[in-house]
Amino acid sequence: MFGTLARLGGALLLALGCTAIAAAAEPNLTVTVAGRATTYAPASLLGMPAATTVNVANDVAYQRDMSFRAVPAANLLGGVAPDDTLRFVASDGFVATLPASLLLARSGAVAYLAVEPADARWPALKPDSPTSAGPFYLVWLNPERGGITPEQWPYQVARIEDVPPLLKRYPMLAPGASAHDAVRRGYAVFEKNCSVCHTLNLGGDATVGPDLNVPYNPTEYMRVDALRRLIRNPQSLRRWPAAKMPAFEAKLLSDRELTDLLAYLSHMADRKAAVPALK
Ligand code: HEC
Repeated sequence: MFGTLARLGGALLLALGCTAIAAAAEPNLTVTVAGRATTYAPASLLGMPAATTVNVANDVAYQRDMSFRAVPAANLLGGVAPDDTLRFVASDGFVATLPASLLLARSGAVAYLAVEPADARWPALKPDSPTSAGPFYLVWLNPERGGITPEQWPYQVARIEDVPPLLKRYPMLAPGASAHDAVRRGYAVFEKNCSVCHTLNLGGDATVGPDLNVPYNPTEYMRVDALRRLIRNPQSLRRWPAAKMPAFEAKLLSDRELTDLLAYLSHMADRKAAVPALK
């Protein structure tokens, strides 16, 4: 059965020509904003009058200077208000939620959607894997002027959509009404740096790492110094080649932000959501 199908597939490939098949398989980008969904093929973005070449110093995905063909992110976001929130969903489960004001800016830190051309593929992200950061990758010029962190450079983007802010959609992430300022600041640190990969109380969009409150909160089973060490450099606490969590060095996350983040995490240990029973 499978053999027949495979052979049939082979015959079809020959009949249609490989290029037609390759073009049909090209992943598209869906942008859903202001109540309207638009699907873009890489070639249609690259053909926009606003398409340009951007030179990115010290690119986040490739860790070196890169040059990309790209369109200004703002050009894809017609009808979006500055106080909206945009969600970038990547094909690997990473989900960045970014304030629209950052993406609409035309000066200071400016966001571009880099598009991988079919005839000029980008390099692989890792030597042992075939995948690149493409076909769609959010890059920034002058990121330091907007306080843009590495978690705000989503790559392998499949969808962009406007959504209510994270806390509106996931109230189980919110600190209690009488929480200290440090806890509130810590929530903001969590939202920007951690919610792109982790849920907390099962709230959040991303599914890359484990939930950070249920069944157990890391502050309940890790010493504070070990947890600080893990966040600063996960590999310095537990080392294995397939680990995916990035290091948050002091230039990305100050000591005070880290302290605030831990205040938020330990506060949430007393505000657990009910977890569905294990199957
Ligand atoms: C790019 C995705 C990503 C980001 C961003 C990220 N993590 Fe992780 N994290 C992971 C993954 C995946 C794991 C599981 C171990 C691994 O593969 O590295 C993990 C593991 C952990 C663990 C260990 C849990 C355990 O018991 O083993 C803690 C604690 C943690 N992350 C906290 C954080 C905090 C706090 C932040 C924000 C400062 C953060 N992570 C940001 C992906 C991420």
